[in-house]
Amino acid sequence: MRKLNSKRLGHHIRNLLGMITSVFIAFFIVYKAFNLQINFYSMILNIISCFLGIGIYLSIIFIIYSKGGHFADNFKIVFDAIDKISDGDFSVFIDSSKYKHNRHNHIMNVLAQKVNDMAKQLSTMEMMRQDFVSNVSHEIQSPLTSIQGFAILLKNDNLSKEDKKAYLEIIDTETKRLSKLSNNLLKLSALDSGAKELQIKTYDLANQLRNVILFLEPQWSKKNIEFEIECQKTNVNVDEELMSEVWINLLSNGIKFTPDDGKMYVSVKRESKNIQVTIRDSGIGIKEEEQKRIFERFYMADKSRKRELGGNGLGLSIVKKIIDLHGGSIRVESETNRGAAFIVSLLAEI
Ligand SMILES: Nc1ncnc2c1ncn2[C@@H]1O[C@H](COP(=O)(O)OP(=O)(O)O)[C@@H](O)[C@H]1O
Ligand SMILES: [Mg+2]
Repeated sequence: MRKLNSKRLGHHIRNLLGMITSVFIAFFIVYKAFNLQINFYSMILNIISCFLGIGIYLSIIFIIYSKGGHFADNFKIVFDAIDKISDGDFSVFIDSSKYKHNRHNHIMNVLAQKVNDMAKQLSTMEMMRQDFVSNVSHEIQSPLTSIQGFAILLKNDNLSKEDKKAYLEIIDTETKRLSKLSNNLLKLSALDSGAKELQIKTYDLANQLRNVILFLEPQWSKKNIEFEIECQKTNVNVDEELMSEVWINLLSNGIKFTPDDGKMYVSVKRESKNIQVTIRDSGIGIKEEEQKRIFERFYMADKSRKRELGGNGLGLSIVKKIIDLHGGSIRVESETNRGAAFIVSLLAEI
């Protein structure tokens, strides 16, 4: 219990006297106003209730002094933690275990845990933000370095025609990579912020898949990849443009990782209210530990090799985001060097 100091005691005696005086003044006013005939018993009753009031008042002062100081200290710990969080320090942790077994401190325990949870979540988000910024910077920096390097080499008048052509080819590829990166970042940000509303319409999914395969012909015919297609007319109720983005990403990945003369399989199947699209390739496959991470932003299983193939690790995160927005799901089945199958499930009606 905290000690009463003289200043606080004086304050409470003043309050007490104030209260007693007000009670008597109130009595007097009521008595005069209604000219009540107060008998002896009612006078006694009033005096008793007056003492009762004084007793309650003193008990409240006692409780405030014995518990209030303690509560105030605990609240200060919480407020200080929130202050630190608002200043960007997410390492805050309040030891809530000391409040656990005390019934009166239950609210403090809950508050402390909430503050700790908030600090933890903000810290995770801050780490993700920093990772994102460093990934974007890296993805911008490497093509720029290469463009700059080959531009300098091109200044040499003694270069052969073939060398010039090869250097210009590299500059062209790297510029396209930069443009793809900025496009993908814009797409992700629009999908994240919800700025892009889904334009739901009903159309035939099999037809859309065939068109996308046709659109990608320059990529697969160059590698002499053979397609097996098992798609019957299946109406879906989704955003056509976004869904086309999904198939382009999945099919391009399949083509990219499949060797020359390889095979790819595409199917659309409907089971009651569920539509399943499978895109399978006969490429390098994805290791089990990598399968969990491939939908993360900027994740590339083998960075050096993927850079040669022109990726930036955003395609599958865009795919996942679009599927999630439609309430569907996507999973991968694969074994190293035995190809990969991406299976998308969509609701027939959303
Ligand atoms: N069909 C596939 N076969 C093998 N690996 C794949 C396949 N699809 C995706 N991956 C792996 O997942 C990573 C992320 O894919 P994605 O987000 O599309 O990025 P990107 O194609 O730009 O590298 C790829 O870098 C690759 O390691
Ligand atoms: Mg990709």
